[in-house]
Amino acid sequence: MSKAYGGLIEKYRAFLPVGPKTPVVTLLEGNTPLIPAPRLAAMIGPGMDLWLKYEGLNPTGSFKDRGMTMAISKAAEEGAKVVMCASTGNTSASAAAYAARAGMRCVVLLPKGAIALGKLSQALMHGARVVAVEGNFDDALGLVKQITASYPITLVNSINPYRIEGQKTAAFEIVEQLGGKAPDFHAIPVGNAGNITAYWKGYQEAKAHGMSSSLPVMLGFQAAGSAPIVKGHPIAHPKTLATAIKIGNPASWEQAEAARDQSKGRIDSVTDRQIIEAYRLLARLEGVFCEPASAASVAGALALGRAGYFDRQSRRLGRRRLSLACVLTGHGIKDPDRAVAESPKPEVVKPTLSAITKLLKL
Ligand code: F0G
Repeated sequence: MSKAYGGLIEKYRAFLPVGPKTPVVTLLEGNTPLIPAPRLAAMIGPGMDLWLKYEGLNPTGSFKDRGMTMAISKAAEEGAKVVMCASTGNTSASAAAYAARAGMRCVVLLPKGAIALGKLSQALMHGARVVAVEGNFDDALGLVKQITASYPITLVNSINPYRIEGQKTAAFEIVEQLGGKAPDFHAIPVGNAGNITAYWKGYQEAKAHGMSSSLPVMLGFQAAGSAPIVKGHPIAHPKTLATAIKIGNPASWEQAEAARDQSKGRIDSVTDRQIIEAYRLLARLEGVFCEPASAASVAGALALGRAGYFDRQSRRLGRRRLSLACVLTGHGIKDPDRAVAESPKPEVVKPTLSAITKLLKL
């Protein structure tokens, strides 16, 4: 009989800094599907095999759970009683859930008025102390760093190295799902830049341990109004409707540039319009609902496809078929307000057969 899935620490224990005494705090995160997306692939270019790593199917609806199972387990091992993070929403939802499970207190600093409703509801329901800061994410993270440096409170943002360790397991899964190799290209939204750092680490380790025969080219995408890495300087007042990646001074900036340069990849920006276009295409063509920030990976791939990037790469590699994995970092239900705002209003009818047949022109 095969053993039931026990979460990513259990599965990848040999590759993670955990010991026999680490109390594993898990919600059975990870093990997310890699979904083929042929209709979107055809829009990116001929010969493209597109895969969607649907991280919205983690327990709290985002990839953050991979890092959080590690960060909270290690915090528990160290005897922490209180954890804290700044967040554009998903980190706070995940920290609140895992802290609840571990019996710890959790404090989250959120940029006031800039958090999607689903995420806020999660942090509140899991009993976190939710503090809305009259500033942006970068202000909130600065405060969390100062507080956790001075008080016995464990920081669980992605500058906590255990977060990156947990998140790198998504790359392990992708290489397994592709039968022992990396995709040719890996597209990912970039906010605070922890996740691109984690994936690149994961792909490199997968190759070093013989899990993968290749490395991908890393393609990171920031929102145009919040694109410090693309512009080459911090953005004091970042703007984008993709609130999850509304970040002007990413904590893992240098690591993101290293991932880009070492993999011969790129970090580009996509406009809010392009993000919304990809967000709708994913939902309508492929049946996959992600939050707007997640769609930045697909928006970027569509833009590169239109600009002939993949044709050039195909010639460079001398191959007709290319593979691309796009990470969909969070579930669409996280941001119901945006989904409703981007859709037609429900039609209202009288509760009669004739009213409905007339409406549907049956
Ligand atoms: N996609 C989603 C849905 C996110 O929530 C985030 C980050 C990212 C992409 C970018 O990942 O920061 O590692 O580059 N959200 C953080 C949060 C900042 O507080 O939830 P990153």
